[in-house]
Amino acid sequence: MLVPAAPAAADAPLRDHADQMGFEIGAALAANHLQNDSQYADLAATEFNAATPENAMKWESTEPSRNQFDFGSADAFMDFAQANNQKVRGHTLVWHNQLPSWVENGNFSESELRSVMENHIDRVAGRYAGEIAYWDVANEIFLGDGSWRDSVFYRTLGPDFVADALRMTAEADPNAELWLNDYSIDGVNAKSDAYYNLIRDLIAQGVPIDGIGLQAHLINGQVPGSLQQNIQRFADLGIKVAITELDVRIEMPASQSELEQQARDYRSVMDACQAVDGCVAVTVWGVSDQYSWVPDTFEGQGAPLLFNDSYQPKPAYDAVHEALGGTGDGDGDGDGDGDDDDPPPTSGPCAVDYSAANEWSTGFTGQITVTNNGDTALDGWSLEFDFPSGQQITNGWNAEWSQSGSTVTATNTGWNGAVPAGGSVTVGFNASHDGGNAEPEAFTLNGQSCSVS
Ligand code: XIL
Repeated sequence: MLVPAAPAAADAPLRDHADQMGFEIGAALAANHLQNDSQYADLAATEFNAATPENAMKWESTEPSRNQFDFGSADAFMDFAQANNQKVRGHTLVWHNQLPSWVENGNFSESELRSVMENHIDRVAGRYAGEIAYWDVANEIFLGDGSWRDSVFYRTLGPDFVADALRMTAEADPNAELWLNDYSIDGVNAKSDAYYNLIRDLIAQGVPIDGIGLQAHLINGQVPGSLQQNIQRFADLGIKVAITELDVRIEMPASQSELEQQARDYRSVMDACQAVDGCVAVTVWGVSDQYSWVPDTFEGQGAPLLFNDSYQPKPAYDAVHEALGGTGDGDGDGDGDGDDDDPPPTSGPCAVDYSAANEWSTGFTGQITVTNNGDTALDGWSLEFDFPSGQQITNGWNAEWSQSGSTVTATNTGWNGAVPAGGSVTVGFNASHDGGNAEPEAFTLNGQSCSVS
């Protein structure tokens, strides 16, 4: 019988909320940081219910010379994941990168390379048999135009190396799910079409294949519009889908508004996955910005993850937390700004009660009561908020109203600028909308954020 998880406290870590939804929120973890950086290890354990070894199970790490296996880092990673009850994605068995030169330049015949590949899979997948939920069996096998990548495996073995690798992994670990994985296949495009066709054919031929990993190494503000549609079409083939290496890179230095854009991007990816049955997991490619692969790989780019260099949660963290049903920043103040040191709502400087008092098809009347929770009287005030769905103020009362883009400012009139400690003021407006009428989520009074009831 399925026992529902205990309800997570609103400000609980990501993994508690994910557990409750039956969802996996994972991170790529590096064995060396787990061992040497306790803050890193703490966050990795506290926030994530799934883990992928960032490098420890790659060919160059596990079999640096022929038939000489080194499982030091991979074992350390597994120990950590198991101690923390994290579901493991094995990464990766057959890949053209981080492949030792003895394989790449070994000039093996077809049958030799097949047995090199089989031995590697046997030993690596075999070692962790029964302990790995998903294997990224083959990684990055296609190019952007959907043609085969000219790897040593493809060159020597032809396209069947993929089916062979899948069958070999099934043999070595009958319990693991067998996945393919790649970047730039997040939206519908020539490369994801190639995967779609390959997987359809593999299924038709009875080759074991359980899932497709969309890496999602994204550029800020550029989540593909067809992400959900793409996830759906793979799910419709009867396989699972996961976002396996999510990061959203920003041109450095990152401004506050770029960090907020990044939060929206993370939210879109979470929403697209969670909207499709069969999209089982979102894994971020690292814990904190500090150790991300992005600055080393994409010049001038950085800050792609959920925690900043000093392990503070970023707006992107709030966005993922919210997508999982949390308050938005895990600190319980509900303002979603990722600052752990904000005062709790009851002692906040102000409290806002917002309501759409009366709605019709193209507009509504809004009413906002603001309470001064501070210790001192206000002498003049300015309330600011953003309309989330394109609403536009047409007229208002009890304040001077103005709107610029989505941002609305209401400033006191001559007669209601003084608000005693504990006192309230109520203002109102009419606004138009074209269908959507989501409520504003955050309000500031004289620049300080208010709690919202
Ligand atoms: C990256 C790691 O994050 C780096 O530490 C390493 O130096 C290079 O590889 N696609 C993948 C991942 O499948 O394995 C890569 O990880 C990022 C791109």
